[in-house]
Amino acid sequence: MKIISTERSQVLAARISEKLGVPLVETKFARFPDGEMHLRCGELDDETLIVSSVVNNDMLVQTLLAIDAADRSRKTLVVPYLGYSRQDRLFAPGEPISARAVARALSNGIERALVVNIHDPGVLDYFGVPADDITIAPAIGGYVGDLRLKDPLILAPDEGAAGFAAGVAAVGGWDCDHLEKTRLSGEDVRIAPKTIDAGGREVVIVDDIISTGGTLATAACMLREQGAASIHAACVHGVLASGAYTRLRAAGISSVVSSDTYENASSFISAANAIATAIRDDAHR
Ligand code: R5P
Repeated sequence: MKIISTERSQVLAARISEKLGVPLVETKFARFPDGEMHLRCGELDDETLIVSSVVNNDMLVQTLLAIDAADRSRKTLVVPYLGYSRQDRLFAPGEPISARAVARALSNGIERALVVNIHDPGVLDYFGVPADDITIAPAIGGYVGDLRLKDPLILAPDEGAAGFAAGVAAVGGWDCDHLEKTRLSGEDVRIAPKTIDAGGREVVIVDDIISTGGTLATAACMLREQGAASIHAACVHGVLASGAYTRLRAAGISSVVSSDTYENASSFISAANAIATAIRDDAHR
């Protein structure tokens, strides 16, 4: 087996290569004068692992090109971050189910797909090949342990992320809850942990994605009002669009970290171990 990656997944691909002891093949990326993309990878084997986060439209095209470049080998496609995955159902007549469109396009020419903490596991069904979701909740829990907080409270910003938060909390046996919105009047809503009082607690809000930061910034403001001693944030996919990082810090969040599924300056947590383990498990099946 050999590994290739697209441009925005090079660090994670190198880490997976080290974990698996499988060579990472050098790939050169270029653009034609009209903006079309080009890539050329070194010699491949009869089995290829493609590591490619679809963080934008260019990376979607690069992923398709990488799949084609490895045409002669059996391919497992690891898409640590699957862009468009939040457009996972029909919201209005005449719209596409964008997650389905992307999953279908990526399925051509591969044998197997793996994603990491997909927003909704239902998206896996849109792939035309066997597809599985890998969770890095244990790695996020490891990061929380390194923070050396006193009796941290792990909070999901909504019920949808409660299972993920439970996976993070399980690492240290920490308290865990999710935020719930209660309408107090026509104008007023209260966002607070469903069952546990955040007063005096060191809180870590965990989520699958931070995009604009709006969800976590609102939660942080409410938690400060409720007397939380400190607030930290950790997510899997740090999209951090539209000034999200400064928005979160301004909302009183002391630290914001994400994983290398979406490579950026806040990617202090790695998905490499979880992905390498899934690949090894596949090989032993
Ligand atoms: C929503 O269900 C997701 O889990 C995230 O909470 C959401 O996508 C975050 O988006 P933003 O950072 O823009 O609030």
